[in-house]
Amino acid sequence: MFIVGGSASKALSAALAAEMGIKLAQIEIRRFPDGDAYVRILDDLKGEDVVLVQTTHPDEKLVELLLIQDALREMGVRRIITVVPYYGYARQDRPFQKGEAVSARAVARMIEMQSDAVVLVDVHSKLLIDYFSVPVIHVSSMYEIGNFLKREGIEMVIAPDKGAVERAKTAAEVVGCQWDHLEKIRIDGSNVRIAPKNLDVSGMKVAIVDDIISTGGTIATAAEQLKSQGAASVIAVCTHGLFSANAMERLRVCNAVYSCDTLESKRSAISVAPAISRDLTAFLSDVSE
Ligand code: R5P
Repeated sequence: MFIVGGSASKALSAALAAEMGIKLAQIEIRRFPDGDAYVRILDDLKGEDVVLVQTTHPDEKLVELLLIQDALREMGVRRIITVVPYYGYARQDRPFQKGEAVSARAVARMIEMQSDAVVLVDVHSKLLIDYFSVPVIHVSSMYEIGNFLKREGIEMVIAPDKGAVERAKTAAEVVGCQWDHLEKIRIDGSNVRIAPKNLDVSGMKVAIVDDIISTGGTIATAAEQLKSQGAASVIAVCTHGLFSANAMERLRVCNAVYSCDTLESKRSAISVAPAISRDLTAFLSDVSE
């Protein structure tokens, strides 16, 4: 078995190879002058099982993933397990108005064409999983986030909305602290309102945990609310740190901001490699029985 990493997931694929004790294959990825991608696998992987790791954001990384799959098939690999650490286009998971594309489904159809199984991490909506006809391993990063929060001495974990409470609860249980959630009302694509809630956070080190930080509107508004209620410090932690537009500016209200390495940046302090390794190893031993 080999790990193959795309250019969006270089650090994570290396971490996963180390975690699983599997060799990381050599790959050449470059761009033609017009911007088209060129992909070549340098190791001979004929007959091998391959774990391909590539985040599909931005768009060009999705195309790169499809090209790597094509190169692997051309080489005659046995099975391709495609790990998509951050799945771009997951949020349009159904038509909200007549005539819209269901982008989560469209991308699933492309990825599964050359996948024997797919690994996804903290998907925003479970609907996405149903769009695949190959087996999907859905990995949670909350155990790794919980361990990180424990080292940070966090005393309370807060979900910014009800939909995120199960994730916050899992992380809080690892920390061994309390958890709760706020009530979020979305105003538009980058602004939300958080209804005041009677929470005793006075003097506490609080962490807000969410799946995605995009514009930072959700976390910034939640952090302001928690600080106004007396929290001593508020850190923000997410699985997928997109940090779009002026997110970091808005997030200055937080004492620190961290993400996992599903999207690699200087803030991706928490690796999901151990979580992927655990679940993938269990899946592989199930299918080999
Ligand atoms: C929404 O329900 C998600 O869980 C996140 O809260 C949301 O995607 C964050 O987006 P933003 O950072 O733009 O507020």
